[in-house]
Amino acid sequence: MALVNLAWSRRGFFWDGRSPTLREQALHPIIDTLEMDETLENVVRKLSASRLYRDQFIKAFGNDSVTPERIGIALEQFMFSLISAQSKYDRAVAGFTLLSESEERGRQLFLREFDPTYKRKGAECFHCHAPPFFTNDRFMNNGLDDDASFVDLGRELVTKSASDRAKFKVPTLRNIARTAPYMHDGRFSTLEEVVEFYNSGVRRSATVDPLMQFNLAPGLRLDERDKADLVAFLKTLTDDQFLTNPRHRMP
Ligand code: HEC
Repeated sequence: MALVNLAWSRRGFFWDGRSPTLREQALHPIIDTLEMDETLENVVRKLSASRLYRDQFIKAFGNDSVTPERIGIALEQFMFSLISAQSKYDRAVAGFTLLSESEERGRQLFLREFDPTYKRKGAECFHCHAPPFFTNDRFMNNGLDDDASFVDLGRELVTKSASDRAKFKVPTLRNIARTAPYMHDGRFSTLEEVVEFYNSGVRRSATVDPLMQFNLAPGLRLDERDKADLVAFLKTLTDDQFLTNPRHRMP
């Protein structure tokens, strides 16, 4: 998932929340065989041999002792600084710009509950992808699979509780138009596919969230225009200032 606004995340990192803190999380990708496949000893050796890094460790920590803990703290500080809050949506909320008609309709659908009795449309997204972070920072099952088709047990692997089966961290939707593919396993490649999934593809299972009840039956019943408007709204969460910030590039 995208690394944005992590300073406000309190319930654990990674899709299953296995890391309680970001400084601890930061060391996992270094040693994970599917990611950098390095050893911490070797990274400590490489950084200690660099004049540039030794100087920076002195500036940050008072002496040039390079330890895994300090590497984690430094990476954590950098990740805390990745703040996205200047999207078109934010500027519209602040009154500096207006959303287009389609984006505004999408916003209303996003923030509204579906009421089949009174035939009031709503896409129910806000329950879990709650503004301003567009996540509620919780672990939930949004109905991607049924009981027979779970491949990844998700949060259950961390808590060992069957009631957490197939629950994953609700990801932020900020800059979502730029972070395909989607979901923990990257199964969807476009936002249109994601919206169609919520509209008509949600699957029943023991731990699917109760908030998915209308998605399951009768389905959200969004028409083509509704779906296009929802996607248009999601695109207003793109923050070009954040995405082009030179501080986020290789020095
Ligand atoms: C019950 C809570 C819940 C509701 C309601 C919900 N979502 Fe989600 N959403 C999640 C969870 C949990 C995930 C991550 C699931 C996974 O990967 O296993 C997710 C993932 C996504 C992703 C992929 C994000 C990424 O970085 O890969 C998008 C896009 C998304 N949701 C959009 C929406 C939209 C649009 C709506 C409304 C139509 C909506 N969601 C409603 C919980 C919810």
